[in-house]
Amino acid sequence: MTKAGFIFDLDGVVVDTAGYHYLAWKKLADDLGIPFTKIDNERFKGVSRKRCLEILLEMGNIRVSPEQFDRWLQEKNEDYLSYINSMDETEILPDVIKVLDYLKNRNIPMALGSASKNARAILEKVKLIPYFNTVVDGNAVTKAKPDPEVFMKAAEALDIAAEHCVVFEDARAGIKAANAAGMKSVGIGNSEVLSEADHNFKNFTEIDFDFLSNLVSELNGKV
Ligand code: BG6
Ligand code: MG
Repeated sequence: MTKAGFIFDLDGVVVDTAGYHYLAWKKLADDLGIPFTKIDNERFKGVSRKRCLEILLEMGNIRVSPEQFDRWLQEKNEDYLSYINSMDETEILPDVIKVLDYLKNRNIPMALGSASKNARAILEKVKLIPYFNTVVDGNAVTKAKPDPEVFMKAAEALDIAAEHCVVFEDARAGIKAANAAGMKSVGIGNSEVLSEADHNFKNFTEIDFDFLSNLVSELNGKV
């Protein structure tokens, strides 16, 4: 019986939604007259919706009432939902299914650990719910990545000790959260941005079965 647990971030790891988040924030930024580039967007990856708006308003030096803040949060989310409403399996990133099938066929427990409050809805749209033993999303946590809370809760739900877990992440804040949780971290994307990860891959097409099998042995070997 394996002691290893695999935890996956959602946006930018399993599905290609990072671009939709960017477009929705960009629209709000344009409306507010705040310059916002894809480089600025790196800071928004892995970060809760509320924290993203706080950062955007800090960038624009804008102070608002709590009511206006909530309206803009809602506006951004409605815009984002208009993009994800039509999502289907074609938006699962390349070779993600290959990796999930490999783990599923070996009965390795898997969790989703995402800051997004839309995570469950997206997993349903792309029909990936059956792969995950547990889904810990933005509704279940109070502290945003880089706080390790989301991954600690995922490990707890899997009933696997943190040091036997590995996290796949595309955000710097997510890699920091995994490391802070005492878990192994795999960076998916730009290795310069994700330099604190234990392993780096551009995407899942670079991950082979030897790597997965070694990782499982390594996690299992821990005492
Ligand atoms: C993370 C994304 O997964 O979820 C962030 O990387 C996003 O960019 C966060 O802000 C919250 O998402 P949502 O769907 O709750 O607005
Ligand atoms: Mg992400």
